[in-house]
Amino acid sequence: MDDQGFGIYVHWPFCEAKCPYCDFNSHVRHAGIDEVQFRDAYLRELDHMRTLSGPREVESVFFGGGTPSRMLPETAAAILERIAQNWQLSDNVEITLEANPTSVEAGRFDGFRAAGINRVSVGLQALNDVDLKKLGRTHDVSAGKAALAVAKKHFDRVSFDLIYARSGQTTSEWQRELEDALILAAGHLSLYQLTIEEGTPFAALHAAGKLVCPQDDAARAMYEITQEACDKAGLPSYEVSNHAAPGHECRHNLIYWRAGGYAGVGPGAHSRLNINGARHAISAIYSPEDWVEKVLQTGHGIERDNQLGAQDEAAEYMLMGLRMNEGIDLDRYAGLGGKIDETVLAGLEANRFVRVDGKRLATTPEGRLLLNSVIAALAD
Ligand SMILES: C[S@@+](CC[C@H](N)C(=O)[O-])C[C@H]1O[C@@H](n2cnc3c(N)ncnc32)[C@H](O)[C@@H]1O
Ligand code: SF4
Repeated sequence: MDDQGFGIYVHWPFCEAKCPYCDFNSHVRHAGIDEVQFRDAYLRELDHMRTLSGPREVESVFFGGGTPSRMLPETAAAILERIAQNWQLSDNVEITLEANPTSVEAGRFDGFRAAGINRVSVGLQALNDVDLKKLGRTHDVSAGKAALAVAKKHFDRVSFDLIYARSGQTTSEWQRELEDALILAAGHLSLYQLTIEEGTPFAALHAAGKLVCPQDDAARAMYEITQEACDKAGLPSYEVSNHAAPGHECRHNLIYWRAGGYAGVGPGAHSRLNINGARHAISAIYSPEDWVEKVLQTGHGIERDNQLGAQDEAAEYMLMGLRMNEGIDLDRYAGLGGKIDETVLAGLEANRFVRVDGKRLATTPEGRLLLNSVIAALAD
């Protein structure tokens, strides 16, 4: 499975404030953290991951979070140096940093570029000050635009994230916001429909009827507007929520969705590694402080390491691959032992939820809107 590329994921679990919709492994530490200690832990865990992965060519490094733009550029530089010592970096390696659009972080973009970062993904989330407040963000629209401008100055490859189908948002409001976004966009945009995640403050508000988000027909209309407007602007969707000009697709995410190999370091990070011919699903201790302690004691923070069976691999390949416009290779799926009921497939095709093109099976935009149901039907 690892012939689909290999990447390194670095999880930085700290944020300035916790957004009320977010269930990522992200924490606020008002007293600060010992960044030197964390840096040492990342370096040690990278060494451990190299012993598991063996020699590989790294096509992508992704600093995700949390808010990795809060790390010092020197920390990112040390991590990248250790990655280059442990593995061979591909000539056109993509090195992405997720960044929050505050002035402090934008002020570090030149340092991050000097450290080796060559792609930035900025979390704008909304182009409307009232909604940014509701989302608990610490930036306003003008700070967001300013950070994006600095990002474009320093990096050739820049993306930004927006969340739509927000509480009280109308279809025409989203359409106008999207038009503004497409004017600001460089080659890549991530447009996420708001998900109410269990256990978050938004979930409690939603349950109490105090947060009413567009649903069903309204959410579908927003999704359709999004596909149309992005197509027209030359940034077609290549995955459920991701849009890019040709050649600007995020290589790191393509490795995930094509079920390639990746080593994840940091609290709660996941890895998929081929070890002695078998694919392993590995995950690290979730709590940042517990993770750092374990790494400094034992050299790694791994909590779980499951060898995947062929059926698991086939299921994972379908689950990830059908998120993408390019879909899955049916020979590869069959080679993993995956089976597809021809009658179910014909039904989905007749309803235009999927298309089969030679040896490839892919979802249509309508199918991606109902992705979970399509996958459930195919997997039965
Ligand atoms: C790891 S987070 C963010 C990076 C950075 N800390 C930020 O907030 O800008 C990646 C992206 O996931 C999206 N996201 C997080 N929670 C979400 C939710 N509940 N619904 C939809 N999108 C969400 C946001 O657009 C966010 O930028
Ligand atoms: S959305 Fe980003 S800034 Fe907000 S809590 Fe989640 S990871 Fe942190």
